[in-house]
Amino acid sequence: MTSFTFTLNGTTTTVDAPPDEPLLWVLRDRLGVTGPKYGCGVGVCRACTSHLDGAAFNPCITPVGDCAGRAVTTIEGLADGAALHPVQQAWIDEDVAQCGFCQPGQIMAAAALLAANPHPSDADIDALENVCRCGTYFRIRRAIHRAAG
Ligand code: FES
Ligand code: FES
Repeated sequence: MTSFTFTLNGTTTTVDAPPDEPLLWVLRDRLGVTGPKYGCGVGVCRACTSHLDGAAFNPCITPVGDCAGRAVTTIEGLADGAALHPVQQAWIDEDVAQCGFCQPGQIMAAAALLAANPHPSDADIDALENVCRCGTYFRIRRAIHRAAG
């Protein structure tokens, strides 16, 4: 076990874990942060998508040792207090979610996309690789355009 300190949703956080343990396990099993979902564990489904220093990343394939001293944001930290992030509000307005399992990752991917590209095209949105088994892709596209507006 090694001690690692990073910023988690704005709070300095220290956790003991093996250096090669994926951050997703650290978040969910050691810190009780369960917004990032475990789908594949190999960086394909994107259900765990969160932000590392503001960019989308997949904690299931990122060792906790790579996160020391950096800023991790999960869906739990996206809102500004009681004020929802525009992407979260757009998701509600467009009634995007079905089962909901993929949605934290979808929202975090969308927020990172809009931070980098405030007015994405349909093609930009369709390039997101987050999988939704319920097929909410058309509502996701509408919600991202709404949030961009
Ligand atoms: S659980 Fe991380 S990409 Fe699938
Ligand atoms: S809403 Fe069910 S998997 Fe996306």
